[in-house]
Amino acid sequence: MNRCDTLIANAQVVDGTGEPARRADVAVRDGRIVAIGSLRDWTSAEVVDAGDKVLSAGFIDVHTHDDISVIRTPEMWPKLSQGVTTVIVGNCGISAAPVRLRGEVPDPMNLLGRREDFSYPTFAAYRDAVERASPAVNVAALVGHTALRSNHMNSFDRAATSREIEAMRAELSESLAAGALGLSTGLAYANAFSAPTEEVVALAEPLHSAGALYATHMRTEHVAIRSAIDEAVRVGHEARVPVAISHLKCAGRENWGRSAEVLAALDDARASSAIGWDCYPYSASSSTLDLGQVNESIEIIITWSDPHPEVAGSSLAAIAREWNATLIDTARRLQPAGAIYHSMSEQDMTRILRHPTTVIGSDGLPNDPRPHPRLWGAFPRVLGRYCRDEKLFPLTEAVHKMTGLSARRFGLVERGEIREGFWADLVLFDAATIRDVATYADPMRAAEGIAAVWVNGVCASRDQVPTGDRAGRFLPRRHVG
Ligand code: ZN
Ligand code: CU
Repeated sequence: MNRCDTLIANAQVVDGTGEPARRADVAVRDGRIVAIGSLRDWTSAEVVDAGDKVLSAGFIDVHTHDDISVIRTPEMWPKLSQGVTTVIVGNCGISAAPVRLRGEVPDPMNLLGRREDFSYPTFAAYRDAVERASPAVNVAALVGHTALRSNHMNSFDRAATSREIEAMRAELSESLAAGALGLSTGLAYANAFSAPTEEVVALAEPLHSAGALYATHMRTEHVAIRSAIDEAVRVGHEARVPVAISHLKCAGRENWGRSAEVLAALDDARASSAIGWDCYPYSASSSTLDLGQVNESIEIIITWSDPHPEVAGSSLAAIAREWNATLIDTARRLQPAGAIYHSMSEQDMTRILRHPTTVIGSDGLPNDPRPHPRLWGAFPRVLGRYCRDEKLFPLTEAVHKMTGLSARRFGLVERGEIREGFWADLVLFDAATIRDVATYADPMRAAEGIAAVWVNGVCASRDQVPTGDRAGRFLPRRHVG
């Protein structure tokens, strides 16, 4: 007798591979997908009538800063409400582990949390904490280069010595053995910028034998982006590891219109190396307030400021006018602070989004009191605005970019596809109504059009209300490739 725990009947199954949708029932037992097809003769403890809605593999957010959120706010509603079932943390060179702080939280590790939030001296301790917190979504984690630098160096404004590199390598290897997915860098940030390419290559070397990957927020996303791509490719070649370029963009007004050239260069590189990239579906970026990005030509909105919390939500230019100060002096007085930079052209962003190699990552900043709307809206925005409304790509491809392609890129085995034997990470949504609701003015709003989400076979939300059942797991690295 064919029995299962949950039978999702009458669904338009978009399986995550990019193949056409097909009408089918899906049976789930013991956390996994056990059958797909016409399953009318099955018995199930629970039957959900999909009513012809789309059933897709759960979305994988390949670029997040949810390191501490998955433990402190395990409901993970900003992500679960988008249909996200797995988050990859530890991006941009910053990770919650392994970290042993000696003083203030270095920039931009302060995006992840406050001093007291950094309590995972080893990767294994972090993994344990995630497992104990039992978040609503699955978690896989990279180790941040800047985090390693902060553990082993007394100043960031120089290259690491060979002894420091040895110590960082040993700690990375220990983290890989405990299940880390790979190494991330944030070479554009002041606290990693002084690291020469040789330092990064030396650290990336242990990734090869571990079957791990190298993710990078590149040296620059502005005018010199081509040299930054060359550097990323070189690290991949010399260390013989796959490279994931984070939040690919052409930043800065003087750089607008170059996305075709940048993508062509990356396509060339792809012919001889394993290289991929992600992007978020917005033309504004967000991070800590970076003096290097302060200029008149783009709008910069302050999202938080430690010394001046009252200015959150105002533009840097307006604050400067009110203070009768220059932009740069104003920015200095606001620090430490966070900002949204309206620094991209929509046309460049959509061209990158459309590229078949691009996967989706939100880059959401969960600790920001006025977060960039990508934190709550990235995935439904791809499906609603860019797939359905602007017809950038068919639905099957949009889903592929958030599921099957992402799982393959980051080595998340038995995830990302609706396939027999795979884990039952699933999202049921209405393709006609799904949309992001979060805006810059009102960013903390859950999306519409998502009917249900399952994580490891457990229903985590229904009609945009969390069930309270949190079945996410820590996903240790298996082998990327
Ligand atoms: Zn980044
Ligand atoms: Cu990031």
